[in-house]
Amino acid sequence: MNGHGQARCLLTRAMSLRVSRICILLLIACLVSPARADELKLAIALFRHGARSPLHFLPDHMDTCKWSEGPRRRGQLTPLGQQQLYDVGLYYNALYVTEHELLSPKYNNSEILIRSSGTDRTVMSAYSVLTGLYPPGAGSDTLPDQVQPVPIRSNLGTPWIQEDDEDRLFHPEADCPVLEDMRTNAMHSKSWEAVEEQYYEFLQRIKKEAELEDYVGSTFHAADIGLLSDPLRCGITQGCGLPPVITQADFEVIMDIHRLKMHEKIGAGVSDQRTRMKGSPMINSWRDMVYSALTDEPTAKMVIYSGHDTTVETMLALLGLWGDDAAETDFGSHLELELWQDPTIVGVEEREQYYIKFRFNGDTMPITACGGVVCSLDDFDDIISSTTVGWGLCVVDPLIERHVGVAWLTFWKTLGLSFLATMILLAVCFIAGLRLAGGIVGHSHSIPSFEKNEAKNM
Ligand SMILES: *[C@@H]1O[C@H](CO)[C@@H](O)[C@H](O)[C@H]1NC(C)=O
Repeated sequence: MNGHGQARCLLTRAMSLRVSRICILLLIACLVSPARADELKLAIALFRHGARSPLHFLPDHMDTCKWSEGPRRRGQLTPLGQQQLYDVGLYYNALYVTEHELLSPKYNNSEILIRSSGTDRTVMSAYSVLTGLYPPGAGSDTLPDQVQPVPIRSNLGTPWIQEDDEDRLFHPEADCPVLEDMRTNAMHSKSWEAVEEQYYEFLQRIKKEAELEDYVGSTFHAADIGLLSDPLRCGITQGCGLPPVITQADFEVIMDIHRLKMHEKIGAGVSDQRTRMKGSPMINSWRDMVYSALTDEPTAKMVIYSGHDTTVETMLALLGLWGDDAAETDFGSHLELELWQDPTIVGVEEREQYYIKFRFNGDTMPITACGGVVCSLDDFDDIISSTTVGWGLCVVDPLIERHVGVAWLTFWKTLGLSFLATMILLAVCFIAGLRLAGGIVGHSHSIPSFEKNEAKNM
């Protein structure tokens, strides 16, 4: 082969290489472009706070983390907990700032709204997430490292204000006496009695072996499992290990009792009035945000809720993602709703361009009510209407409450007015029927007695 031929050959090879590269690029563009066309309109995020100090401190001989010695108070976010939520914030930054460009890299108060339950650990968790979402450098020149302060709204219960102003979103029991009553009664249900019975021997053995008489009281009830499960779990999370008297197998049973208790408290999912009452304020708030995002003036592009295990688990339960055997959600678990628009769908109502996806701990979740991972707005409406109840169910007439009891009142309210009306109608018919029958019978007797009286009077 001469030099000229070689050059031609090289040229053809270079050209075919270029052609194949273009083909590959085109192919990638074809695969990617439909996804690119879809625009993220709104992200709603709800998470559980990160690792914290226990709500109950075990006696010294069981306290592997030596919580009681530290300067920490109960239920405080630990440095590990901060790290967990900071990581969630970095994830949001990668997803919602860099990848989908939902949020500007610099804080814009028209774009994001943050609500937190009123505990130190949830406010600090929100703060940790925001540090990841708007890292140093995202702020103005004013503060060191261009740190960006972001407002965190919280409604409630500051410890130094004694008013009962809990936030309905995170603690719906606080202003719903019916729900509070249901929660109390949950620990007196038949199903819970069975749990108490099943684990009675186990708990008494643990109490004795771990010398916990002073700590748990004379009888250790399954309902009080938090006294043990909570500090043990916090210790494990911090890497302090189990106290020597508690084996791994014991620990697993303890966590299983805790799981049963959480399910008893939250209810059995969407079919359960209790779950729906607990979740209604939150899911209604999500609905408002979604419908606001469809308008010309959306409330926000991202809404963050910083809550608790019960907040996250209730929402999972309403979406059909927290089955009976589901374990407690981990510290820092996070759930997102994403509202997407596909503007290439034309010739239909604009509403049909939108769809919703849910993510949990990084995975896109299939939703039974939507028949898959993609929920249309109609599916979403169905979820809302099948999971929400009116807050009127919470209103108890104090007089009725005293005489009927809250549980009964709820029962009647649940059955609904139509059923009551039918019952009243039936009762009226029945009484009318009786009176009619009684009238005929009474009539035949009344004449003789009248005659008798008449005769007497005569
Ligand atoms: C802030 O966000 C709003 C809503 O997306 C937008 O209209 C506005 O231009 C943004 N402001 C700045 C300074 O980027």
